[in-house]
Amino acid sequence: MFNSIMDEINNNLMNDLIKWRRYLHQNPELSYMEVKTSQFIYDTLLTFGNLEVSRPTPTSVMAKLIGRHPGKIIAFRADIDALPIQETTELEYSSQNPGVMHACGHDGHTAMLLGTAKILSSVKDQINGEVRFIFQHAEEMTPGGAIEMIEAGVMEGVDCIYGIHLWSPLETGKIGICYGPMMGSPDSFSITINGKGGHAALPHETIDSITIGAQVVNNLQHIVSRGTDPFENVVVTITHFSGGSKWHVIPGNAEINGNVRTINPKLRETMSGKIEKIIKGITEAHGATYEFKYSLGFDPVINDESVTKVTEEIAREIFGDESITRIKPVLAGEDFSAYQKVAPGCFFFIGIGNEEKATNYPHHHPNFNIDEDTLGKGVEMFVATTMKLLCNEKSYNLI
Ligand code: NI
Repeated sequence: MFNSIMDEINNNLMNDLIKWRRYLHQNPELSYMEVKTSQFIYDTLLTFGNLEVSRPTPTSVMAKLIGRHPGKIIAFRADIDALPIQETTELEYSSQNPGVMHACGHDGHTAMLLGTAKILSSVKDQINGEVRFIFQHAEEMTPGGAIEMIEAGVMEGVDCIYGIHLWSPLETGKIGICYGPMMGSPDSFSITINGKGGHAALPHETIDSITIGAQVVNNLQHIVSRGTDPFENVVVTITHFSGGSKWHVIPGNAEINGNVRTINPKLRETMSGKIEKIIKGITEAHGATYEFKYSLGFDPVINDESVTKVTEEIAREIFGDESITRIKPVLAGEDFSAYQKVAPGCFFFIGIGNEEKATNYPHHHPNFNIDEDTLGKGVEMFVATTMKLLCNEKSYNLI
């Protein structure tokens, strides 16, 4: 049975996958505003039959495929939102929505999950248990759509969950697997240094927010270089520093913004305190005051060992050992982590990097594009996972 499904993907489904992906690419929508996108997904799912399709939140979609006999419940998740970026690819199916672009591959993720739903809905009777297809809104913006989906009940009873990210730093067609911590927590902070403004020629009568701010920026570098175990993964980055507007005026205030990435939840808890301690010490020493705001982003993506082992085995069986790469964690954030707090899960990458096809631009770059030939691989992984977990041994052995 599995062979025939793979033939079906290669012969017929690829056209659908590319057609869907290009429609989505042309019609990108920002986080929490995925109105047309979710309607398109909803309408497309209804054409497959055998699915219970619902709208957990105004701009998301879920489909349930309930098999013939009871069994486990597995879930697959795709994110569906785009980014506030002006596309510069000049592809014939470029974004028709100015300033908005699918620059992270979520159009591909959505197409792959639609393809999976199409294939599996046609073999409903051979499934024991239930498959849930989660088309999640707002992955690109904290707090992220995943927590809303969970609140709406999409994870109730789910035994395990899987997600794919198409990944341009990885060579096209490779499957990137990571055990344990895989993606980081994207936390952020803002600092205001309150000094006392005055004449540039009379610095002793001011409290210079610029020089104090500069010391804060420099000293924050010590958190990673001197205050953290070198075998831990941490980034503290200052992304914004502003203050003053005249060449002869010392400004009373300076604004600093930054980003903190960690992968170890225990270490993450300490970061806000470490940063504030430095700000407090430096501002106090120079007679200034400060305001400090620290915002937590997504939790780290942490892959379950046994669920990931099954994913790796499936990938090796389908694509061969040479296609599998054990990848190092990356500190980009992903709200797939929210589902993993409810049920064990595996998030993995499918490489799309291909210089000849210009699909090796970084994610969130205005020239970003995916290698569409990989879309079938995502469907194969999800279909094979369903076969392995929810179909009887016999069917799976036909692979
Ligand atoms: Ni993404």
